[in-house]
Amino acid sequence: MDMNNKINRKKFFKWASLALLIPFYKIWQSAVFRNKAFSSSPQTLEIESGLPDGIHFFNRVILIKENDNIKLLSSKCTHLGCKIDKIENGELVCPCHGSRYDSNGSAIKGPAMKSLQEIEYRKERIEGGIIMRFEGR
Ligand code: FES
Repeated sequence: MDMNNKINRKKFFKWASLALLIPFYKIWQSAVFRNKAFSSSPQTLEIESGLPDGIHFFNRVILIKENDNIKLLSSKCTHLGCKIDKIENGELVCPCHGSRYDSNGSAIKGPAMKSLQEIEYRKERIEGGIIMRFEGR
């Protein structure tokens, strides 16, 4: 076996192993970034005046209503950006890696370390409810 053959075989295995990593990368990427469909365009949210107190999930935001006070939090997890869409024992839970937040959006269990972003909004009263305008997250 000559030296050129050895080098070509080494190159082949190097490139073949790199090519094998691509499908694994794609699988990892889809697992990590699933539910990560957020934009930063102007958004509106229309809610009925009879919306009960509690935590409500909408497309990009989590609405927390207590009497007439309404707080909007981004539903984008501060770990890797998955969409938070469930609550367990009063805690907001990220479906991707299990981070938990309290109802104020404070991170209480990792891997997320930062609190959920509170979203400022403008409120307009309409017949039968209100419209909330905010910048999408
Ligand atoms: Fe990892 Fe939410 S994206 S815990």
